[in-house]
Amino acid sequence: MCGIVGYIGDKEVTSVLIEGLSRLEYRGYDSAGIAVYDNNDLHVRKFKGRLNVLADHLKEETLTGVVGIGHTRWATHGEPSDRNAHPHTNVAGNIAVIHNGIIENYMKIKEWLVEEKGIEFKSDTDTEVIAHLIDCYYEGDLLEAVYKAIRRMEGAYAIGVICKEEPDKIVAVRKDSPLIVGLGEGENFIASDIPALLKYTRKMHLIENDEVVLLTKKEVKIFNDLGQQMDREVFNVTWDAEAAEKEGYEHFMIKEIHEQPKGVSETLLRRLDKEEKVTLDGIKLTKEDLDNINKVYIVACGTAYHAGLVGRYAIEKFAKIPVEVDVASEFRYRDPFVDDKTLFIAISQSGETLDTLAALREAKRKGARVLSVVNVVGSSVARESDDVFYTWAGPEIAVASTKAYTTQLVAMYLVALHMASVKGTITEEQYKEKVNELKTMPDKIQKILDNQTKIQHLADGQFNNEKVFFMGRGLDVHVAHEGSLKLKEISYINSFAIAAGELKHGTIALIEDGTLVVALATQDHLYDKMLSNIQEVRARGAFVVGVAKEGNKEIEKTADVVLYIPDTLDQLTPILSVIPLQLLSYYIAVARGCDVDKPKNLAKSVTVE
Ligand code: G6P
Repeated sequence: MCGIVGYIGDKEVTSVLIEGLSRLEYRGYDSAGIAVYDNNDLHVRKFKGRLNVLADHLKEETLTGVVGIGHTRWATHGEPSDRNAHPHTNVAGNIAVIHNGIIENYMKIKEWLVEEKGIEFKSDTDTEVIAHLIDCYYEGDLLEAVYKAIRRMEGAYAIGVICKEEPDKIVAVRKDSPLIVGLGEGENFIASDIPALLKYTRKMHLIENDEVVLLTKKEVKIFNDLGQQMDREVFNVTWDAEAAEKEGYEHFMIKEIHEQPKGVSETLLRRLDKEEKVTLDGIKLTKEDLDNINKVYIVACGTAYHAGLVGRYAIEKFAKIPVEVDVASEFRYRDPFVDDKTLFIAISQSGETLDTLAALREAKRKGARVLSVVNVVGSSVARESDDVFYTWAGPEIAVASTKAYTTQLVAMYLVALHMASVKGTITEEQYKEKVNELKTMPDKIQKILDNQTKIQHLADGQFNNEKVFFMGRGLDVHVAHEGSLKLKEISYINSFAIAAGELKHGTIALIEDGTLVVALATQDHLYDKMLSNIQEVRARGAFVVGVAKEGNKEIEKTADVVLYIPDTLDQLTPILSVIPLQLLSYYIAVARGCDVDKPKNLAKSVTVE
């Protein structure tokens, strides 16, 4: 989604903005622009396309300055184009605005601006109304004008504003869209995400909802919605900027696939004490709390939702509490049955997904206890939760989530085991068996990665398919859904996932000569049933790629190709079986020449509805 960067200091501002925006490219965007104050005037440059279109243009002119704002836009209102790109300005061009989010009542404001003020709009965006509104209220004090403007705006937004009359300041606002402030020596920054600023500073302020920030070279003042100044601690970022670099890999996605042994090991080992007991520092749920809970809701979006499906299995199996899983965009509007006996679990890599955040707030409002599984420290979901479990995946840059997913799986297993152990629904022996097996996961993932050549060859022969099915039974269905999502996201192949038992109720009609079917058969008690399903699709001409545990060779008689995962407990196979599917999607997308890390139309962090 849109990326925001702003700078005020002594450095040459255009290069700081371009550098910052380049670190936000992973969020997904279709145009980019900057506004800088130079030579007593505001200058706006903005272009459709990749950031280098803007950067190349800037090389051809001498635009200098020490204050400015920059933006990468992911189109919501109005097509991707030069004129719809941000920043947007008022009629006189002396106020420039960048914005991430959606102004829901922009049509009403626009009507008022057109009819009452006679303003002619230059773009189709909702954002442009902000620049004109601020202009209407401007009487020599930018901060005050911004306050008056936001009182009329509804929706979710993070904005950055500069003004020709007050070139020594940037004003920024956060409402439901992420915004951070970077603190330097004689310079300050705003951004929508930490990686944008790591080259310059590790000291940040995390801006809360409904706060307004005034930045000058020397200081940063944060105010609440009533205009009262707020104290804010400095948040020190401890992870390395290098963690967000490609380090010789061709794409972030393949780098992140290879980082899974480390991510899984970090997520796990940080939680095991000397007695190998799971200790979850951020989770304060007592036995009494858990005995009071009669229902768990797991809510998330995209890949995180798929991790939630496995989480349901683990909690029901180990902790014996009924669980419902829902996508956040549905949960928030369906008046779900939630009360103070409900434990609400939000899963989110970024911790900024708007629907997940809104669902969390809805559950809290109804009295639920909120636990979140989040990758980004200090993110909104984490801050608004009662208990937090941080996955230690490190920054995930590729839009298609990989290491976040496997670490979310480990997190859900640990949460389930912790709940089971506190509630006493699992024996000491069963508990140890699972923890010991979880500890073998990093090596087992590594083993699959070491044998990826077979998957590369398979992708080279299959990349031309325009239709792919993933199927499985039991836990394998959830992995089938994740595998299918990976493939469609990055290769644009029409892919579907189904419960294999449902084949005969419709989907089998679509199987024809050469259709690629990926069949997961890792669950011992469902193995024979899966072999029958494989027979059924092969009889209709499908080319079947089986995924099975080492040693289960029977499948070779029915599938065309078999990808093996190391042997493990049936309950834990998702952590391993997803790896070949990630690799297959990646190599198919590469063979098709797709932009793997930044697939079209998708965004890493979905901060609008
Ligand atoms: C987007 C991303 C997905 C991600 C989903 C949820 O769709 O492209 O990779 O799974 O959002 O994001 P979250 O940050 O909440 O896990």
